[in-house]
Order: sequence, then C-alpha cells, then structure tokens
Amino acid sequence: LSSDTPLQLAESYFKLYPEETDPIWGNPCDDPKHQKIWSKNKSCDSLPKFLVIGPQKTGTTALYTFLSIHPSIASNLPSTETFEEIQFFNANNYYKGLDWYMNFFPVDVNSSRYMFEKSATYFDGDLVPKRVHALLPHTKLVTILISPAKRAYSWYQHIKAHGDTIANNYSFHQVITAGDTAPKPLRELRNRCLNPGKYSQHLERWLTYFPPQQLHIIDGEILKSNPIEVMDELQKFLKITPQFNYTGHLRYDEKKKFYCQVLNGERTKCLGKSKGRHYPPMEEKSLKLLQRYYLSHNTALVKLLKRIGMRNVPQWLQDDLTDSP
Ligand code: A3P
Repeated sequence: LSSDTPLQLAESYFKLYPEETDPIWGNPCDDPKHQKIWSKNKSCDSLPKFLVIGPQKTGTTALYTFLSIHPSIASNLPSTETFEEIQFFNANNYYKGLDWYMNFFPVDVNSSRYMFEKSATYFDGDLVPKRVHALLPHTKLVTILISPAKRAYSWYQHIKAHGDTIANNYSFHQVITAGDTAPKPLRELRNRCLNPGKYSQHLERWLTYFPPQQLHIIDGEILKSNPIEVMDELQKFLKITPQFNYTGHLRYDEKKKFYCQVLNGERTKCLGKSKGRHYPPMEEKSLKLLQRYYLSHNTALVKLLKRIGMRNVPQWLQDDLTDSP
C-alpha cells in the first residue's frame, strides 16, 4: 500500500479544485466532524458577537471608545501587529488562520461579556462579507455613515498628516479630479479616497450575505452631536440588558468640540489629536464635484435605506442630494 506525499496529494487536490486554493474559514463547532478533532482546550465562544465594520473616518474610534466604557462589552485584546485593529477578514491576516483570530478573544477573561472588534476597512473589502458570513453567520454588524464627500476629505487629511508623499504633493482637488492618464500612485490614492464612499455598493454586498435585521446603521453626525442617543439605540439593537446609561459618562468638551469620556465624574478624556483634526474647510468646488460624483450612489443609498426599513433618511444625505449641482 502506498500513497503520494502530503504535498503531492495537496497539489493533485488543488489541481482538481482550484477554487478552493483560497481558504474560507468556518466555525469548527458548526460541523460535528470538525468539532470532534477540535482541541479540547479551545472554545468556539472565542469569537466576537458583533463587528464595527467602518468605513474609515466616520467616527469608528469614538464608537469603539464609547463601547469600551460599557461594563458588559469587551473588545479584542490589543494587536501588536496591526496597531489597534485586528483587520482579519480584509487583509493577509486572514491567512494566519482561525487560531490567530480567536486568540484575540479569550473567553476566560471575558466570560460574560459581549465581545466585539472594530476594523474600519471591513466595510469596503470585496471579500469581507463572504468571509465574515462563513465564520460568523449570526454576528451583528454596525456601520457608521457620514456624507461621503466629507469622509473623502477627512481621509485625505488623515493620510496627509501621516506623511503620505502623494497627498502632500497634490491638493485634495487635484486628487479627486485625477484622470485616467494621471500617474499610477495618484490614481491609486484617488481610488482609495473615493471608493469607500460608494456606500450603496458596499452595503448591497453585505446584504447579499446578511439579512437587514443583523445590520445597524449609525448616522455619524448624530454620533457627534448626540452620542448618548446613539449608544441607547445601539444597545437596543444588540439586545444588551440591563441598558447602560451613558449620561454622566459622556460629556461635550468645549475645547475639543466633541463628546468625550468623563473620568471620575469630573475630568474629560478626549480622543487624541488625530481624531477631530483641525484643517481648513473643503473648497466649495471640491464639495460640488463630489456631490455630483456621489449622486447616483447617494440616490441608490436612499432607496436601500428605505427598503431595509430605516425610517429617517440622514440629514446629510438629503443635503448632499439637494445641493448636488
Ligand atoms: P476628523 O478628524 O476628520 O474630524 P475614525 O475614528 O473612523 O478615523 O473617524 C475620525 C472622525 O471621527 C474624526 O474625523 C471626527 O470628525 C469623528 N468623530 C466623531 N465623534 C468624535 C469624538 N467624540 N471625538 C473625536 N472625533 C470624533
């Protein structure tokens, strides 16, 4: 009796099933055969119950911070490799495997807590909804939306502040108007700046895998002006009881001009300088151009929001549509 080596077997297998070369991780406990060979000291509870999926620059750090104040909610352990975010489902970290991901959610420490992770790049990642669904079909998804024009501008300011050479050599207007003959790095930057704001496209992709009941959309402008209301609504959506009363834990800080965490009933602890940055307002011509650019996407977004039962269309969305030239 003889057999090929494991490597030869794998090569023959993937020749027959090339579509399986890219792995898709499922939950080992969903399949009795897998569960049987799953190590005894591992738990399938080492997974988050909800994900804050972004997109970037919509207030995801503020939401993450407010959630972390909640006594029955816990985020993942910090990642030494990817700064504060795990970025498992969208990036090469996915190939590090399930164990790598699950180690961020130790059940012994957080036994009764509602675990979550926030990775703002999940929102617009092509493969992310499919991968999330394979592992966490019942997870709840939380997204924050602001005007896509404003988001693009905030993102540009963000990477400029991080020393991106292209962003430092080209104005925002030059970036968003870069044509298809522009240098490749500039075109790439333009795409990274503008693509996440095509909200309806990205949400439709999530909705092909998840029912709308699992998706919660936060109006990012209300997160800024009334985070207490936003946190109340979010807790209802997550069905977290007893509800934690954020009044007294969040307070508007006159200096920061944003809501901040209240420490010991007195001092406020605000997010760092990189959140709520100071920069000149967007030029009118850029705003008009972007409102026109996002017109079809914003129109589709209104339809999508109505279809999934969102009662109030955000004010910024109405404004972007009515101001569009
Ligand atoms: P700006 O710095 O452009 O104003 P993210 O955390 O997803 O990167 O989003 C950053 C944005 O969060 C900031 O963009 C800011 O407008 C917004 N934000 C919302 N609530 C905030 C808060 N309480 N403190 C600081 N920034 C907040």
